[in-house]
Amino acid sequence: MISPLLFVFCTSVMYWTCQASQHVYMVILRGPSTVHLFEDPFQDSPQIYLPSQLSPSEYASYLVSTHDVLLSSTFREGTYKKLYSFSHLVNGFSALLTAQQAEILDQSEEVVLVERDNKVTKQTTYTPTYLGLPAGAWQDEGGAINAGEGIVIGLVDTGIDPTHPSFSDNTLKPYPNASRYEGVCEEATEFPKGSCNKKLVGAQHFAEAAIASGEFNATIHFASPLDGDGHGTHTASTAAGNNGVEVKVDGISFGFASGMAPRAHIAIYKALYPGFGGFTSDVVAAIEQAVKDRVDILSLSIGPNGPPPGISTCLSTFDMAMLSASKAGVLVVQAAGNAGPYSHSILSFSPWICSVAASVHDRTYPNSLVLGNNASIEGTGLASATPGDGMYTMILASDALREDGSDLLDVNDCQNSSLFNADVVKGKVMICSYGIDYLFGGSSINDVINTINKLSAVGVVMFATSDIEGRFSIPATPFSIPAIIIQTNNGSKTLLNYYNASNQAATVRIKGGANAKFSHETPKVAKFSSRGPDPENDNLQIADILKPNIMAPGSNIWAGWSSIGKDSHEFKGQQFSMISGTSMATPHIAGIVALIKVKNPTLSPAALSSALATTAFSVDEHGNPLLAQNPSSNTSIQLGPGTPFDFGAGEVNATAALDPGLVFDAGFEDYVRFLCTIPGASGVVQNLTGIECKNTSSSVTMLATDLNLPSITISNLSSSRIVPRTVTSIARDSETYTVTITEPNGAQIAIKPMEFTIAPNSTQELSISITPTKSESKPSFGYFLLAGSRGHKVTVPISIVAKST
Ligand SMILES: *[C@@H]1O[C@H](CO)[C@@H](O)[C@H](O)[C@H]1NC(C)=O
Ligand SMILES: *[C@@H]1O[C@H](CO)[C@@H](O)[C@H](O)[C@H]1NC(C)=O
Ligand SMILES: *[C@@H]1O[C@H](CO)[C@@H](O)[C@H](O)[C@H]1NC(C)=O
Ligand SMILES: *[C@@H]1O[C@H](CO)[C@@H](O)[C@H](O)[C@H]1NC(C)=O
Ligand SMILES: *[C@@H]1O[C@H](CO)[C@@H](O)[C@H](O)[C@H]1NC(C)=O
Ligand SMILES: *[C@@H]1O[C@H](CO)[C@@H](O)[C@H](O)[C@H]1NC(C)=O
Ligand SMILES: *[C@@H]1O[C@H](CO)[C@@H](O)[C@H](O)[C@H]1NC(C)=O
Ligand SMILES: *[C@@H]1O[C@H](CO)[C@@H](O)[C@H](O)[C@H]1NC(C)=O
Ligand SMILES: *[C@@H]1O[C@H](CO)[C@@H](O)[C@H](O)[C@H]1NC(C)=O
Ligand SMILES: *[C@@H]1O[C@H](CO)[C@@H](O)[C@H](O)[C@H]1NC(C)=O
Ligand SMILES: *[C@@H]1O[C@H](CO)[C@@H](O)[C@H](O)[C@H]1NC(C)=O
Ligand SMILES: *[C@@H]1O[C@H](CO)[C@@H](O)[C@H](O)[C@H]1NC(C)=O
Repeated sequence: MISPLLFVFCTSVMYWTCQASQHVYMVILRGPSTVHLFEDPFQDSPQIYLPSQLSPSEYASYLVSTHDVLLSSTFREGTYKKLYSFSHLVNGFSALLTAQQAEILDQSEEVVLVERDNKVTKQTTYTPTYLGLPAGAWQDEGGAINAGEGIVIGLVDTGIDPTHPSFSDNTLKPYPNASRYEGVCEEATEFPKGSCNKKLVGAQHFAEAAIASGEFNATIHFASPLDGDGHGTHTASTAAGNNGVEVKVDGISFGFASGMAPRAHIAIYKALYPGFGGFTSDVVAAIEQAVKDRVDILSLSIGPNGPPPGISTCLSTFDMAMLSASKAGVLVVQAAGNAGPYSHSILSFSPWICSVAASVHDRTYPNSLVLGNNASIEGTGLASATPGDGMYTMILASDALREDGSDLLDVNDCQNSSLFNADVVKGKVMICSYGIDYLFGGSSINDVINTINKLSAVGVVMFATSDIEGRFSIPATPFSIPAIIIQTNNGSKTLLNYYNASNQAATVRIKGGANAKFSHETPKVAKFSSRGPDPENDNLQIADILKPNIMAPGSNIWAGWSSIGKDSHEFKGQQFSMISGTSMATPHIAGIVALIKVKNPTLSPAALSSALATTAFSVDEHGNPLLAQNPSSNTSIQLGPGTPFDFGAGEVNATAALDPGLVFDAGFEDYVRFLCTIPGASGVVQNLTGIECKNTSSSVTMLATDLNLPSITISNLSSSRIVPRTVTSIARDSETYTVTITEPNGAQIAIKPMEFTIAPNSTQELSISITPTKSESKPSFGYFLLAGSRGHKVTVPISIVAKST
């Protein structure tokens, strides 16, 4: 019942006025969702009243009606607005409510959890690093003509450009029907009938919470699956774009692109929007629909802005929906976050999620110029060289003003061609400045290019102004003219001193930056990539779970772009872009999982994640740990030895992941047992999952570390303990494994047995005893290796803080 005090006048056209007092809340109710009841009936299911003899869809309708009844019997009509009913993965709803209404629902018998909707953001960064550009990891992919065929990868993202050649099904070899997939393709004026095909099999959008909160603007956000941002087109094409699509930007060809699983199908669930990002309610609705539609894999290049409030990061509505997706057989691959390089910055928390860190690969597009005095300066810019081998005279923009030219401050940013005297500039290379305005879109490279073209200049040399040098990395920037951006203060000074000293006779040759250079260095953890250890709650207490799980290329990744995309002004109007983020790493993993699934269709989500992890590499060819770009006070790169808190199990090795030999498997019950180990969580766990914690563990009390993961993480090893693990063979033949151990500092490790032979489809228990030998102030790292007689290598990282008493 509602008290008059709480009454807020609010009609459907007045949400703007209600915004101050209302927010989007997610409300989870007692009782299982359809996945829990029908997909994989859980025997221990509790004594909840269930209408018997209902079909899954009848049960779903029944749940929806209970949501409506709860709301309408509690609040006066018009004082709230239900946005979504969730019934497939979680039993609950999302609604626009006042804080008092949320409080009232929280007190209700039927309600298990009330959570204010936290916005989520795309995990993309615009501060690419100086060094190393990505490997198109797509090149690892051998048989492009078949790779990933039959698998549907679902992406929750900013939508898709359906006209992009990466998503055409007009290919030499026709695509099969995605027969298991049940999703639809929405239609709208800007997303007309026929936008989907046998490659892009589904496209839907979710915006109720964005609309209700007043952030949605149909003009720029589109009430359809169309990608007005660019991010979704990029991630989808990285996961499963067609093979052999030419990457052409500003007339320059950068080679050919391919998704990691080029023959897989794509289903897009738009729940994120340019500008404000997205709301968890819209994302949860998207995840529900994707699982209902029977996608095989979910790729989420999104995450919260910080640990969700509450008792545990693992018990948020978002994470609970992902747990249910996993129960339904769908592996969720999620970006680790771009909050690095600081400790505890991970933004993907739960053990049922495969959290992906981003690496910097070995490809760069170096650009440089040679001055008339033979000095050479390095720079950046995806641009062609000045024509021929000759030198060209340079002219500083402010020296080329028209007589009547204005005395505007920023003439050197070259934004307005009519300020300059074309006779002075023609045939020369113009010198312009590159400042902070370019990073945030105030000044644009397009306008510089316009200026150069209008004045018939040959090209442009841009020097970095002092507001940017050393503080911001300059993103990869394409130019349709000969060009270079000098990034360093020293380089800029060298240029200007020479220009000044040459008395208008300064000359230059720009070498161009359109050609890739490969350094053959091993991958490094990207500076922006979020780091572990995994925080368990608001107070950043540590969960004994290794995060991130795996690393993949995520720095300067070329992939498809929406030509109306607003997300990166450098690539405005282009069909491809080169951008960075754990967002870019995540679909690499989703694509590789599709490849594993083709070879091993029955693997559980946990087993798939295990296959990626145990075969990853965390050391270089000399056995030294992969390097990580660590904190520094400026844009210079501080490299140090990486740890599992930086790269998880290491950089993905797709070849090895297809045939891991052994897997560490786990299922829903194991995850619930894990949740029961979180101090103080048993009541919430029971209310959320319907399972009583004391019933889940047969004899001994389980610890979080005991969850059967392909890693061991102990944040406070104060006494000796035995950590159990179970491996399952998914190899075709029997194999004998021997164990080798590399102990972390401060702990002694023994494993029983040290050798075993395992038959296909059978399991082997390992008993790992870990004893602290001295006290350490910070985590130390080791691993154990199971080396098989048939060549399988299964590596398990160990992270421990030892406390010896
Ligand atoms: C694929 O689906 C279309 C339309 O649903 C149907 O006409 C066609 O026969 C199917 N093709 C195959 C190979 O199953
Ligand atoms: C929606 O976006 C358009 C284009 O940017 C803008 O002109 C319009 O004012 C916006 N509407 C609202 C309500 O913000
Ligand atoms: C620059 O190098 C070229 C070739 O090495 C040489 O011929 C020329 O004299 C040099 N110019 C100056 C100014 O040093
Ligand atoms: C500054 O640039 C000049 C010309 O490229 C180079 O010779 C010199 O080594 C640079 N100095 C530093 C400190 O990087
Ligand atoms: C460019 O400069 C001309 C001449 O000063 C001026 O009339 C015009 O408004 C400027 N255009 C822009 C876009 O600033
Ligand atoms: C170049 O010369 C101009 C005018 O003489 C002066 O204002 C400027 O500071 C000089 N720049 C450099 C880098 O020496
Ligand atoms: C950047 O910071 C590092 C230390 O973090 C320092 O060694 C280096 O000199 C700095 N570089 C510049 C250009 O300030
Ligand atoms: C990746 O795995 C393959 C197959 O096991 C192996 O030959 C290769 O050396 C691995 N690559 C790295 C970098 O570890
Ligand atoms: C679980 O639900 C019951 C009944 O609504 C409630 O009394 C109890 O406080 C809840 N427990 C927790 C830990 O939220
Ligand atoms: C827990 O176990 C007890 C005894 O075996 C049983 O009576 C009870 O129903 C179980 N509770 C749940 C929620 O499964
Ligand atoms: C580690 O565990 C011991 C024993 O349970 C406890 O006394 C100590 O406070 C813990 N240390 C931390 C940092 O949690
Ligand atoms: C192992 O199990 C898989 C899937 O259940 C089955 O296809 C395969 O034939 C089994 N292999 C052996 C050697 O029993």
